[in-house]
Amino acid sequence: MEKKRVAFITGGGGYLGGETALTLAREGVAVGVCDIREENVQNIVDKIIAEGGVAKGYVADVADSKDITAAIEQCAEDFGRLDIMIHSAGGSTRIAGPQAKWTHLVNQEDYVIDKVLKVNLYGAFWSSRAAARIMIKQGEGGKIINLASTVGVNGMCCSTDYGAAKGGIMSLTKGLAKELGPHNIQVVCVAPGCVARPEDTFLTDKYKYGTNFLNQMCTATDIADLISFLASEKNRFITGQTYIIDGGRSLALKGTDGE
Ligand SMILES: NC(=O)c1ccc[n+]([C@@H]2O[C@H](COP(=O)([O-])OP(=O)(O)OC[C@H]3O[C@@H](n4cnc5c(N)ncnc54)[C@H](O)[C@@H]3O)[C@@H](O)[C@H]2O)c1
Repeated sequence: MEKKRVAFITGGGGYLGGETALTLAREGVAVGVCDIREENVQNIVDKIIAEGGVAKGYVADVADSKDITAAIEQCAEDFGRLDIMIHSAGGSTRIAGPQAKWTHLVNQEDYVIDKVLKVNLYGAFWSSRAAARIMIKQGEGGKIINLASTVGVNGMCCSTDYGAAKGGIMSLTKGLAKELGPHNIQVVCVAPGCVARPEDTFLTDKYKYGTNFLNQMCTATDIADLISFLASEKNRFITGQTYIIDGGRSLALKGTDGE
C-alpha cells in the first residue's frame, strides 16, 4: 500500500495556510493544521473532513519553541510520520495586536518589533528544526517550506521588522538546505507579493493589483498551488531557493510608504 504523506502547517487556519491545507488534503496528504487561534484550526479541519480528507488540529504558538516543537512531535506521533512542514504563521505589524502601528523604525515600539521577529523568523527556526529532527530520524527525506515575502527581498518603509524577518527566512532556507541536503530533506521558501485577504478592506485597488505587471489579483490558490508543487514528490531536485510569486511586482517595488 502506498504510504500517506503527512504535512504539518503552521498558520494553517489563516488565509494562505488554510488554502494550502485544503489543497494538500485534496491531493491525499494527511494534514496537521496548526494555528494559535483554535477557531481558525477547527474551521479548516472541519472543511477538510467535510471534503473526505484527513486532518487533525493543533493549537500552538510558533513563537514559543517548546510549544511548537511539542505540537509537531505530536502530529508525527498521531499520523505515524512527517513528510512536509510548512511555516505559514506570520504577518507584519498587525500580528502585534490592534494597537500596533505601521510606522518608521525610529518610531516603532519594542513589543511590535519583538512580536514580528518572533512569529515570522523565530517561528521558522523552531518549526523547521523540529520537523528536520523528525525527518532525519525517519530517514526518508522530506520537504520544509517557509513563507517569506517580497518585502524580505526589497524592504519596505514601515515594515523594516517584517522585511528583516522574511529576509532572515530566505537566508535560513539557504543554510538549512545545505545542512539537510545529505538527508534528502529539501528546504525552500515561497515569497508572495500582495495576496489581499477578505478582511484587508483597507487596501486600495492600486495596491492589490495595480502594482503588478499582470494587473490581476493574486489569489490564495495561486500560492497554494506553488506550495503544493514544491511539497510534492514531483519536486525532486529543488532546494535552498526562494520562489517569488508576485506578478512581477517586486521588479518595481521602490519601498516607498504605501506602495
Ligand atoms: N497575504 C499576503 O499578502 C502575504 C504576502 C506575503 C507574505 N505573506 C505571508 O504568508 C503567510 C500567511 O499569510 P496570510 O495572508 O495567510 O495571513 P493570515 O493572517 O490569514 O494567516 C496567518 C495565520 O497565522 C496565525 N498566527 C499568528 N500568530 C501565530 C503564532 N504566534 N503561532 C501560531 N499561529 C499564529 C494566525 O492566527 C493566522 O491564522 C505569513 O507568513 C505572511 O507573512 C502573506
